[in-house]
Amino acid sequence: MSADKQKWSSNLNFLLAMIGSAVGLGNIWRYPYVAYTNGGGAFLVPYIISIICMGIPLLFFEYGSGYTFKAGINRIVRKINKKYEYFGWFMLTSTFLILSYYCTVVAWDAIYIPLSFFKGWGTDTNAFFNNVVLEASNPGGIFHIAIYVMIAMLIIWFIMWFISHRNLNDGVGRFNKIFIPLLFVMMIIIVLFAVTLPGANIGIMTLLTPQPSTLTNVNIWLSAFGQILFSLSVGMCISIAYASYLPEETNIPKNALIVAISNCSFELFTAIGVFSILGFMSTTNNIPLDQLVTQGTGLAFIVFPQIFNAMGIFGYIIGPLFFLCLLFAGLTSNISVIEPIALALSEKFNFNRSKSVTITCILGILISLMFGTSMGSTLLGIFDTFANNFGVVLNVIIEIILIAWIYGIDDILANINKNATFLKLGKTWITLIKYILPVVVFIIWITGIISNMLTSDTLTTTVELILFGVLFILPLIITKLPAKTEDY
Ligand code: PFF
Repeated sequence: MSADKQKWSSNLNFLLAMIGSAVGLGNIWRYPYVAYTNGGGAFLVPYIISIICMGIPLLFFEYGSGYTFKAGINRIVRKINKKYEYFGWFMLTSTFLILSYYCTVVAWDAIYIPLSFFKGWGTDTNAFFNNVVLEASNPGGIFHIAIYVMIAMLIIWFIMWFISHRNLNDGVGRFNKIFIPLLFVMMIIIVLFAVTLPGANIGIMTLLTPQPSTLTNVNIWLSAFGQILFSLSVGMCISIAYASYLPEETNIPKNALIVAISNCSFELFTAIGVFSILGFMSTTNNIPLDQLVTQGTGLAFIVFPQIFNAMGIFGYIIGPLFFLCLLFAGLTSNISVIEPIALALSEKFNFNRSKSVTITCILGILISLMFGTSMGSTLLGIFDTFANNFGVVLNVIIEIILIAWIYGIDDILANINKNATFLKLGKTWITLIKYILPVVVFIIWITGIISNMLTSDTLTTTVELILFGVLFILPLIITKLPAKTEDY
């Protein structure tokens, strides 16, 4: 499936695939929490500035790079200079780690979909999630299989493989065309319902009330930058792979703007729904709002089921809608992570699309088996922090050094502007990419590492050291393997 053999059959297919990648679990459960803990309404200012000064310029850069080279990251860096191939595989290793654990979260969600039709989680949602679903308290640890998670995970892997192994437009293209509009419609229904709930205004006020003093706090700015990187799937090699399939006549700036605006509006809109629902719970059950606001799994699988219990009959409708939204958001993101890895394998080893997707999925399943055990959620948290705070952020720095500095940004700029209509990039963009963003991203990277070091326990440190070893050694092995294609 080398890049010159497959192309998006329409610009819409590319756009929806990119939006599918960007709109993920991060939009639904990460943003509301990050915004709330970083100054509420005031967070909007650093957030919007980050989108404009960081997210969108980096999207231009990644789309421009994929479009210019028409290749995956490994072949791009090799085209720049053969000796850089290692860095391509290095970047892909972090992406692979994300692929391996993200599907587990989607699997947890898949378990909650049938349960939501009859509120099968009971009254103690915390105990249900930890003891019944995750079986986290089982002393068997990594040797005890959490059976529901394991089965759900294998089903999710099968679905991902089934969609991705087919031809690009029939598989990934068609899937996103159906599920992205569906996701947006379902989310609109949830939010419209949520804002009419008693107490919704309290939640919304809490989310939107600015605490302007926080604007001078550097950490809040770093959180906004970090959220934008994660939310737009920057640094995961995804945009580069998807953009390598773009036809010549594509308008890059327009596409990047549409993806960024769709993703960030979805994120803000969803946050209003999430906080309306939390406001409802806080008012009706007299629980202070700050006790309800958690991120990630706590919010989706413990607090929300509790709220669906409190909603009476409506809980039977909003519950399934919510978990289906998470499923579609998670699946479309997860599928996008398969792409750069499968593309890289096919470029180096001359596999067809189906074969390289199958190999990627088999390797992914093998790693993800450990997340289907009683220790799964603990390990998953460690993988998540490592891959995102350390790996992906470092990837952004590497791609800027190799592509913008060593290869030269002028060629990328010319390609981005080639079919641009209303927006043409110039010197400001070059200055941002070459000089300002590497410094900002480096600061995010260092602060992430320091805060992680301060909070790590022995298990975390051990697993992180292993991951560190894998991240450096695996790319070395793959680089050394002989390529099976002549033009590699
Ligand atoms: N943009 C995605 C999100 O907000 O959830 C980030 C992401 C994570 C994309 C994991 C893909 C992925 F596998």
